[in-house]
Amino acid sequence: MQRLIPVTAVFVLILGLCFSIISSAQDNCLDCHTDWEDGENSPTQKWTYDIHNQVGLTCADCHGGDPTLDDMDDVRNSKGYRGLPSTAQIPQFCGRCHSDATYMKKFNPALPVDQVAKYITSRHGVLLGTGDDKVATCISCHSAHNTSPASSPMSSVYPLNLPAVCSGCHSDAEYMAEYGIPTDQYEKFASSVHGHALLVNEDIGAPACNDCHGNHGAVPPGVENISAVCGSCHAKVASLFADSPHRAAFEENGFPQCETCHSNHDIIKPLDNMVGTEQNSFCIECHSEDDGNKGFETASVISTLLDSLVRSEQNAIEVIDEAEIKGMEIDDERFALKDVRSSLVESRSLVHSFSLDEIRPELEKGIALADVTRINGLGIIDNYFFRRKGLGISTVIITLLAVIIWIKIRRIERQPRNRA
Ligand code: HEC
Ligand code: HEC
Ligand code: HEC
Ligand code: HEC
Ligand code: HEC
Ligand code: HEC
Ligand code: HEC
Ligand code: HEC
Ligand code: HEC
Repeated sequence: MQRLIPVTAVFVLILGLCFSIISSAQDNCLDCHTDWEDGENSPTQKWTYDIHNQVGLTCADCHGGDPTLDDMDDVRNSKGYRGLPSTAQIPQFCGRCHSDATYMKKFNPALPVDQVAKYITSRHGVLLGTGDDKVATCISCHSAHNTSPASSPMSSVYPLNLPAVCSGCHSDAEYMAEYGIPTDQYEKFASSVHGHALLVNEDIGAPACNDCHGNHGAVPPGVENISAVCGSCHAKVASLFADSPHRAAFEENGFPQCETCHSNHDIIKPLDNMVGTEQNSFCIECHSEDDGNKGFETASVISTLLDSLVRSEQNAIEVIDEAEIKGMEIDDERFALKDVRSSLVESRSLVHSFSLDEIRPELEKGIALADVTRINGLGIIDNYFFRRKGLGISTVIITLLAVIIWIKIRRIERQPRNRA
């Protein structure tokens, strides 16, 4: 039985091979087109790697026509020839299969079949419906003859490759001129924390354009959805924000939630001075001293405590580093410093509660721990000097003893020998 399995497998493989040779021999579309077409972008060049080819589909499955004929004019006149879709027809051309759940299930039951349904709600789809053929259609993002599964690094929609696809149109000022929307999204994105993480560090956990805009429903997220978009990754911060006094206040004033402070495409690494009452703070854009509201005061207290935690941590680190250089045992203190760091990280996200009651305990906990650690460190350094002093005294005593013994020995040696 065990042996039968490999034998059967080989048999099936050979059978499959013969079958595919015979069936591909019947595909005159591919043969003839391969013969006369060249150039990098011709349909047959990349076809080998196309997912449709990989799952056994043929040219005729998309374009229609009789693949056993050997003349293109006959093909055009053959039953079911679809030819080339116009730009406006492309969604339905692809959707003939991709919106057909029964058909797609035969290949891959897990694959969604909602692409066309979503696409027609997108800005691209809506404009295509009005006869605008400059917008993105299925093939602008996926290509027509070089399509890979979205999860493959070869795919044009793989996170590392996608921003370049969108920017092909969206960064082209001339192409986009008639729409009057900015064309700096890619440039800003590339310089943002997200762009840096994605494009430089190749961290595919960082968002590409489609993570915020949707794959097929590409629209600007809309004021009311931004927090949900950012919150899909920054869940904790988003939930703090949702419970904060800003939620209702921002809604009332029509301020988009995260974007108001962080922007959308050029999000920079947040700094502690962005909360507070100094020049670079976000808070003073809306809160001022003479409003008499709690916003300004809260900003000021958070900022003072944050500064204090940062300084306390720094001081503690310096002392512990010094103790380490002196060769002292500081494992427990290093451990405590890690807890101080977590308090700092936690506090930076607790800023989004915009509430002193929420953030103050964490900040004070961190400050207290940092201070205790520094004091412990100073104790360890004292201990070092104490040991050094002890060592010094005992060295002096030992040297003294050695000298005395030496003198004694010299004296004994100097006594006349003949006496014995
Ligand atoms: C004998 C060679 C030959 C065969 C067989 C052939 N084609 Fe073509 N095909 C051509 C040539 C040459 C052109 C472009 C020149 C022209 O218009 O005739 C072309 C053009 C096309 C076009 C562009 C649109 C159009 O209508 O001009 C499509 C799509 C196409 N072929 C698909 C197919 C499909 C699908 C099959 C198989 C069912 C097929 N071809 C079979 C040679 C062939
Ligand atoms: C997944 C569906 C699909 C498959 C499979 C497919 N095509 Fe196409 N093909 C298209 C679409 C969509 C266009 C229109 C491209 C455009 O408008 O730029 C196209 C365009 C073409 C053209 C016009 C020239 C060009 O490059 O735009 C030719 C010729 C062609 N296909 C031949 C073939 C041949 C030969 C095969 C088989 C090797 C094939 N196609 C397989 C979807 C497909
Ligand atoms: C604006 C670019 C864009 C357009 C237009 C577009 N797609 Fe996609 N498509 C994507 C992205 C991005 C993904 C997903 C990548 C990922 O999952 O990381 C995707 C994924 C897919 C998938 C894999 C399954 C899934 O839904 O995740 C299929 C199938 C697909 N697209 C088909 C289509 C069809 C059919 C059309 C036309 C109706 C279309 N796409 C239009 C960008 C686009
Ligand atoms: C004849 C039916 C048919 C047509 C027409 C068709 N596809 Fe497909 N497509 C498939 C099948 C089947 C698969 C393979 C699904 C699988 O096994 O994962 C597939 C896979 C894909 C995938 C990869 C999905 C993934 O992430 O795994 C993309 C993207 C895609 N097609 C885009 C298109 C686009 C764009 C068009 C129109 C130009 C198109 N398809 C037209 C049948 C079709
Ligand atoms: C083939 C060119 C092309 C490609 C590729 C393309 N777009 Fe577009 N996009 C357009 C055009 C044209 C508009 C219409 C501009 C408008 O809304 O007035 C548009 C509109 C949009 C809008 C709406 C903008 C607004 O304020 O109205 C968003 C969001 C968008 N695209 C995102 C994307 C994303 C994300 C990608 C990549 C996944 C992408 N686009 C790929 C051409 C393209
Ligand atoms: C971190 C989320 C995020 C990422 C990543 C992102 N966007 Fe946006 N994008 C937004 C938000 C939020 C808006 C503004 C919505 C509003 O204010 O109505 C926006 C607006 C847009 C618009 C409308 C015009 C404008 O500039 O205001 C376009 C077009 C656009 N983005 C394209 C892109 C492209 C292309 C990429 C990738 C290079 C990208 N976006 C990456 C969140 C994002
Ligand atoms: C797809 C997941 C994802 C989405 C959506 C997303 N982010 Fe991020 N974000 C990340 C990742 C991952 C990082 C870490 C990048 C790094 O530094 O390596 C990050 C970093 C950040 C940072 C810097 C944090 C720091 O400590 O340096 C800010 C601020 C930020 N994101 C805000 C936003 C905002 C605002 C939005 C919505 C407009 C958003 N993010 C949408 C995944 C996401
Ligand atoms: C885009 C404008 C805007 C920014 C930026 C902003 N706030 Fe606010 N904030 C408001 C509005 C509007 C309210 C509700 C009305 C009010 O109390 O002033 C509010 C309310 C508050 C409240 C509640 C006040 C109360 O009376 O209970 C606190 C606390 C607060 N903000 C702190 C901050 C801090 C800290 C920052 C900086 C990190 C900040 N805000 C940045 C607009 C803003
Ligand atoms: C009122 C201004 C304001 C708003 C609105 C705001 N943030 Fe922040 N955010 C800040 C400030 C200030 C910091 C810097 C805190 C620090 O480093 O001390 C920050 C830091 C961050 C960080 C890095 C710290 C961490 O927790 O990792 C992320 C991520 C972040 N914000 C995401 C978001 C998201 C997501 C939203 C929307 C739900 C949002 N922010 C809304 C002001 C704001």
